[in-house]
Parts: sequence; structure tokens; C-alpha cells
Amino acid sequence: AMAYSLMAGGKRIRPLLVYATAKSVGTDLTVADNIAAAVEMIHAYSLIHDDLPAMDDDELRRGQATNHIAFDEATAILAGDALQSLAFETIASTPTSPDNVIQLVKKLAQASGFNGMAGGQSLDLEAENKLITLSQLQNIHALKTGALLKIGIELVLLTQPKLAPEISDLYINFATELGISFQIKDDLLDVTGDTHTLGKPAKSDTRNHKSTYPSLLGLNKAQQQANKHIDNAYQALQQIPQDTTALLQLAQLVIDRDH
Ligand code: IPE
Ligand code: IPE
Ligand code: MG
Ligand code: MG
Ligand code: MG
Repeated sequence: AMAYSLMAGGKRIRPLLVYATAKSVGTDLTVADNIAAAVEMIHAYSLIHDDLPAMDDDELRRGQATNHIAFDEATAILAGDALQSLAFETIASTPTSPDNVIQLVKKLAQASGFNGMAGGQSLDLEAENKLITLSQLQNIHALKTGALLKIGIELVLLTQPKLAPEISDLYINFATELGISFQIKDDLLDVTGDTHTLGKPAKSDTRNHKSTYPSLLGLNKAQQQANKHIDNAYQALQQIPQDTTALLQLAQLVIDRDH
């Protein structure tokens, strides 16, 4: 059940961001491998649980039946739990110094937990059937999605303690803006995309009465917000002296994607 969801493909945007950042700052690929795999495992676990009947109750993911449909709910819960554990085993096995490993583990835990993805998912469920403010919605997006989109980049930066803090901050600004923009685009695709292309059910947010950018602002203003945040991301990149071509390409993919 773990492999069923983890190996089902998906865009692999989080691992790609890890490799693009590693390339930019000169982190060894063997180090990037562990970071990329660990982050993708946390992501896959979050998707399995996100699709459960108690959460978004969806039956299609990455073009195939969701984990609890292909197996059963108990197996899906446990597969998610075990993927999370495997992610921490993987990050703890990163071929870098013991001090560095401890920092990686701690940061990944923070991004996944109550002040990151899991906390954001809780706020997302609480905001169903409610009118919330734009700043509350931005906070939900930053936590439920931004935290895991950003973390791969942050972990690679941790392996480069000699990088100037002002440069490191620019990569982090880039990642923060990209994360928000990524979830706004996801909200837009829920309305404008089709199930076949998305590989997951379109209009799931409408059915669940979710608080989303389109539900709060309408499609046009939501698109403007996505553009605004991606422009902020581009601006951060432009100030980085290192080669950031691959990161720029990934940011373009985030905004232009159809799934
Ligand atoms: C879907 O993430 C869940 C969100 C955080 C919006 P992705 O759109 O990256 O899903 P995959 O990995 O490509 O399946
Ligand atoms: C999910 O957001 C974020 C996660 C932490 C998985 P969504 O619920 O909008 O993700 P999709 O649309 O089901 O992929
Ligand atoms: Mg959800
Ligand atoms: Mg969902
Ligand atoms: Mg969605």
C-alpha cells in the first residue's frame, strides 16, 4: 500500500525543487537524494490521509484509485503512518555530518507537524462551510502546502552553512512565494480542470464547501493572486547571484501547469 501511492508518479515537484536547489548551491547529489526522497514520502503520506473519507473523501489520486479504495481505510491510515516513519529513517540516513543530520530531522519534523502540514490540514477542515478572511486562507495555504513545498529547499540550504544568510533568505523567499502560488493554482485547477487531466476529482473543493482562493475571491482575482506570488518568487530569484535556471523553470511549471 505504501509503494502503491508513493510510486504512482505525480509531478515530483518537491524532489525536483530539491535537485534544482542542490544544483544551484553545489550540494552533493547523494545528499540531495535522501532529502528528495524523504520529502516526497511525507507528501505521499499527506495525500493518502487527505483523501480519506474523514478528510476530503476522494476516490481518485494520481490517475488511480485512492489508497483507501484500492486497499481499505485501516491500511491507508497505516500506509500513511509508515511512510512518515520511513521519511524520517531516510532523512536520518543522509550522508552528511551527524550535527547536520539532526538539523535536517528537526526541520523536516517542524514542516510536517502542527506548525506545518498537519496543522494546516486541520485548519483547512475547520474552514469548511465558513467564510474566512484572505489572511486566514493564506495562512492555511502556507501551512498545509507551503511548508512541504518549501522544506526541500530549506533542507538543502542547511547543508550549505557557509552560504551568506542574505542569499539563503532569498532562496527561502522564493520558496515561500512559490508555495502559496502552488496552492492557489491547485485551487484554480479544482474549478477549471477536468478529472482525467488532473488525475484526481475536479470540483472536490466545491463538493466539500472548502475555503479556497476562487471561492473567496472569484476566478479572476484568484488568478491575479497566483500571478502576484509567482512574480514575487521570480524577483527573489533574480537577486540570487548563483545559477537558478532550473528553479526558474520549475516556478514557470507551477504557474503554467494543467494538472
Ligand atoms: C497535491 O500536490 C496536494 C497539494 C499540496 C496541492 P501535487 O499537485 O504536488 O500532487 P502530485 O505529487 O503531483 O500528485
Ligand atoms: C492538500 O490540499 C494539501 C495536503 C497537505 C495534501 P488539497 O486537499 O487541495 O490537495 P488535493 O487537491 O486533494 O491534491
Ligand atoms: Mg485537502
Ligand atoms: Mg484534497
Ligand atoms: Mg486541491
